[in-house]
Amino acid sequence: MASGESGKSGAAARDMAGDAASPWGDALAELAAPSGGLNIAVACVDRHVAAGGGQRVALRWLGRRQDRRDITFAELADLSGRAARVLGDLGLAPGDTVAVMLDRIPELYAAALGTWKAGGVYCPLFSAFGPGPLRARLEIGRARVLIVSDELYARKLAANRDGLSGLRHVLLVRTDDGPLPDGCLDFRALLAAAEPAAAADTRPDDPAFLHFTSGTTGNPKGALHPHRAVLSHLVTGRTVFGLSGADVFWCTADPGWVTSTAYGVIAPLACGATLLVDEADIDPRRWYAILHEEKVTAWYTTPTAIRTMMRYGAALARSYRDNSLRVAASVGEPLNGEAVSWGQKALGVPFLDTWWQTETGAIVIANAPGQGRRPGSMGRVLTGIEARVVQCADGAPVPADGADTVGELVLRAGWPSMFSGYLGDDDRPGGCFREGWYFTGDLVKRDGDGFFWFVGRADDMIKCGGLRIGPFEVEAMLMDHPAIAEVGVVGKPDLLLREVPVAFASLNPGFEAGDALRAELLSFARQELGASMAPREIHFIAELPKTTSGKILRRVLKAKAVGEADSFDSLPNLPPCPGRFDDE
Ligand code: PRX
Repeated sequence: MASGESGKSGAAARDMAGDAASPWGDALAELAAPSGGLNIAVACVDRHVAAGGGQRVALRWLGRRQDRRDITFAELADLSGRAARVLGDLGLAPGDTVAVMLDRIPELYAAALGTWKAGGVYCPLFSAFGPGPLRARLEIGRARVLIVSDELYARKLAANRDGLSGLRHVLLVRTDDGPLPDGCLDFRALLAAAEPAAAADTRPDDPAFLHFTSGTTGNPKGALHPHRAVLSHLVTGRTVFGLSGADVFWCTADPGWVTSTAYGVIAPLACGATLLVDEADIDPRRWYAILHEEKVTAWYTTPTAIRTMMRYGAALARSYRDNSLRVAASVGEPLNGEAVSWGQKALGVPFLDTWWQTETGAIVIANAPGQGRRPGSMGRVLTGIEARVVQCADGAPVPADGADTVGELVLRAGWPSMFSGYLGDDDRPGGCFREGWYFTGDLVKRDGDGFFWFVGRADDMIKCGGLRIGPFEVEAMLMDHPAIAEVGVVGKPDLLLREVPVAFASLNPGFEAGDALRAELLSFARQELGASMAPREIHFIAELPKTTSGKILRRVLKAKAVGEADSFDSLPNLPPCPGRFDDE
């Protein structure tokens, strides 16, 4: 492997997914129309209805206030057809973006599946985003339609909607029956009045969903995935979770996260399982009761959630041990061996770690049945995926495949759910592809038996409760405050969330460092960025550490932050591959 050309391998993606010998060949034959068309909503819903499964429960929704609703595959086909009609009648053209900012309520699933049926691009957004990150994503994603709750709209968008010239329609899911705000439509009323539309004849490479992610530098980037991704979701739903029509599958991810789109919507439905949806946020007592009473057979959650449950103690868990769980898995951050065996003791099944990224679109490494399992490792690479570990020597990545050698994880481009490109990536076009390999930015090692172990990130991205936060976006917003002259944001180890963002700031003349200013800045950040992205601490320093070329040395700030924290584990500090990371 030498340095050289970069470029994505869409052709490879087409070849592999169409190749009958690949694990995706059968999936393509199962899901595609005779004409060669492929639509995620048809694969998830309509085909089950056509096969006579219309009366089975597709979605079991549990509301915050003990309310519940079962939606059959036939009802979901109808609901998503109505949503497609609503979007079509509003002039949504193929490939147009529909941004969705909703909690886990039935309208979220109508919006996602309806967007696919209408040929649009589904772009879910975290409801914890403040007005700043929300505006940036609506702009970069060129959202034509936004489907949002009335409460979030009033709080985060109404005041500055005029600046978003590309946003043609706002559809509100309403909680009060007062007059509709100006320029908005009532999504539920439109759904009730619409005739269901048939699904658009989308092609496998047509864009289907868009998720924003962050690196160290630059604006948020929107990773775009095609309809073809559903092949990976079907295959991993079966190989990692063993899903079939007999399962009740629960994915606890926030709707804004790609995990929710891939495994909280597509994979279980494509496999014909019942998707369990809980509207409420994490609450261990409620969660144990759900696992038990709803007879959940397969569960996908995060290490942060598992740590939260562990804090409540194994005795509580054991009182619900009589459950139907067949498999429990986690993703997003390292899962230590203790958490794996705690699952076995408390719930009767071990937690299995899985690894993937927004860009990979679906699980690519896992402790899965038939793959072998090793607690503390992320597992082995799934069939059909090719992974290597590389290091940089003389500016070029070279294989570092020796057992236990640390390097960057790279994947041979071309699996079906691989992202097809970034929106908003002005500064690093194609920067993560070289010679047909995708560079993940994760540092790993592979042991002699082929299990991958997570070591850290090669860049300064912050992982907070499993979510990716780009320091640049937080810094850029803080710079809008008149007190701040310069600021650097880094991740500080945290025992529950693994990392939280903290800021180091120098001040402009005339501003005094102290508790009053700190409180003002923290509240300014929460207001603009939202609670999940805002720094939890602000430290004032006279001058930020810089390179000779004037760039902030986040690694030095990180060492300061780590020094003040209960360190989770030792943080790696390996040289990044030249040309990929430019913070030094
Ligand atoms: O650093 C890795 C970490 O999460 C990153 C991907 O974040 P995001 O795109 O938000 O996640 C999408 C869906 C998972 C990775 O680059 N990560 C993911 N899984 C693991 C992990 N780190 C350690 N162990 C994992 N199992």
